[in-house]
Amino acid sequence: MCGIVGYAGPREATPILMEGLSRLEYRGYDSAGLAVHDGADIRILRSPGKLARLAGLLEGRQLPGTLGIGHTRWATHGPPSEQNAHPHASGDVVLVHNGILENHAELRRALEKKGRRFTSQTDTEVFAHLIDEELGRRPLEQAVARALARVRGTYALAVLSRREPDRIVVARSSSPLVLGLGRGENLVASDIPALLGHTRDFVFLEDGDLAVLTAARVEIRTLAGEPVARPTRRIDWSPLMAEKGGHKHFMHKEIHEQPRALADTLTGRILHGRADVRLDDLRFEAAELKALGRVVIAACGTSYHAGLVAKFLIEWFARLPVEVDLASEFRYRRPVVGKGDLLVAISQSGETADTLAALREAKRLGARTLAVCNAVDASIPRAADGVLYTHAGPEIGVASTKAFVTQIGALFLLAVRLGRARRKLSPEEAGRQLEALAGAPELLEAVLRDEARIEAVARAYAQTRDFLYIARGANYPIALEGALKLKEISYIHAEGYPAGEMKHGPIALIDEHVAVVAVACQGESYEKMLSNLAEVRAREGQVIAIGQAGDEQLGALAQHQIHVPRALPSVAPMVNVLPMQLLAYHIADFHGTDVDQPRNLAKSVTVE
Ligand code: G6P
Repeated sequence: MCGIVGYAGPREATPILMEGLSRLEYRGYDSAGLAVHDGADIRILRSPGKLARLAGLLEGRQLPGTLGIGHTRWATHGPPSEQNAHPHASGDVVLVHNGILENHAELRRALEKKGRRFTSQTDTEVFAHLIDEELGRRPLEQAVARALARVRGTYALAVLSRREPDRIVVARSSSPLVLGLGRGENLVASDIPALLGHTRDFVFLEDGDLAVLTAARVEIRTLAGEPVARPTRRIDWSPLMAEKGGHKHFMHKEIHEQPRALADTLTGRILHGRADVRLDDLRFEAAELKALGRVVIAACGTSYHAGLVAKFLIEWFARLPVEVDLASEFRYRRPVVGKGDLLVAISQSGETADTLAALREAKRLGARTLAVCNAVDASIPRAADGVLYTHAGPEIGVASTKAFVTQIGALFLLAVRLGRARRKLSPEEAGRQLEALAGAPELLEAVLRDEARIEAVARAYAQTRDFLYIARGANYPIALEGALKLKEISYIHAEGYPAGEMKHGPIALIDEHVAVVAVACQGESYEKMLSNLAEVRAREGQVIAIGQAGDEQLGALAQHQIHVPRALPSVAPMVNVLPMQLLAYHIADFHGTDVDQPRNLAKSVTVE
């Protein structure tokens, strides 16, 4: 999510760190900071806002030294501010961190009991105190390893100690970290583009690796201290390719980030032993959740589709009626909303004008409000009574992908919480659902592995000018989302419809020129989907079916099949949207459109 750069060598570190961070700017961030060791002491400089602000501060102040670390932060715990910006320090330890520490609240409480004082709201500061606590007379490397044995979560860390002016200790678990090998100098970064100005030789750390970098060498070990060898790779990417992690477009990169992003959404929130979830910022007592009479969801675009999926999840798990509104309609229709209602505003950016207005209107009318949001501390979460952050990481492609899947993941957690608080979901069923949710990232991986097949289908239909997307139940919103993705990035006409409505209109359109993309997974309403597809075939429509591998009945009805793994009905929408995203992506790429910045569209719509 955030960006890390570190340097150990003979040159002044500050300009190298600043340049490295500037190469990560495209990813989005809200604050930045540096720490440089001058041989005797470590100086830290941090600032909210853009790097230019940090550069401005540097003009008046010197950060001399040839060893240092830098960071661009994209807020997850605590709003963007100087106090929450990295590096964080405790005693002799100074560090930067990417990722999310799962057990930070417990660790923080324990550390505070021992008299440690925190100066930020971040989970990262816990790392600094833990390592400082372990440091004693130990070398930094050992202290880091011991501290890491006490944490759960994801991290890429770069750590300095005042007492060891020649080295950076780095470690990773799930969050990426690469070492850049130079001549008489070594570097580290969260992403390759940060270092391409200095080297082309990279060592990719793996989970559980801990490395020590000095100007002269890098040593990689396991947390237990066993040396490990990692190959050096030569990377000849252009800077632009490197920004996209080797993908042709950000959208493609973000589609592939979904298993990781969804895992981040769930991190630390599923209480396996208790068949429940912990949602720290939700800020509603169980009694209040129990007393709710209705949930009203307001959102725009892709976020609205996540709301439509949430309606199924909340009604299934919590037996609570849910209405889903387009925010632009909600605000002007004199909505009947008030006490006893929970208004859930879903927004990736947290800045969409209509969604913000809907939330404010509901609040004015007496409803309680909850924001489901990706951008921390944006206007919508600030205006809401409670927040559920999705932790998808920055999304750059205008067409939303990972934000959508993580919204559904977060709303799934909310639905379980409501179900448990209202005693409508048994512990057994909650446990079963949460287990399935925890397994969802793996199912997403399975779909991504089958990309070549989806690309082949895209090639076969690239010249088709009309697409109809059909599905039933909780997959119906996925049909809407599939059609939206195709429209947005390929400019091809596409419509999403509940399959049961086909006979009431869209069937009139069907002939050999129309492609029908259908979600037809085995389970509820499968037979009905087969009948709908038979109707399409009878009119010579082209059928692209998303279903299970080996399904011969479906195979007999479809010109093309795309396979998805079996999933519980509650998890299936998250899985089934991936083929839709990839299909749209490859069709658009085939046409050579500007996939990441499609014409006439904006990532964040802050005006009506
Ligand atoms: C724009 C974006 C969409 C997004 C919608 C809502 O139309 O292009 O991708 O779904 O706004 O944005 P939000 O940030 O509120 O989720």
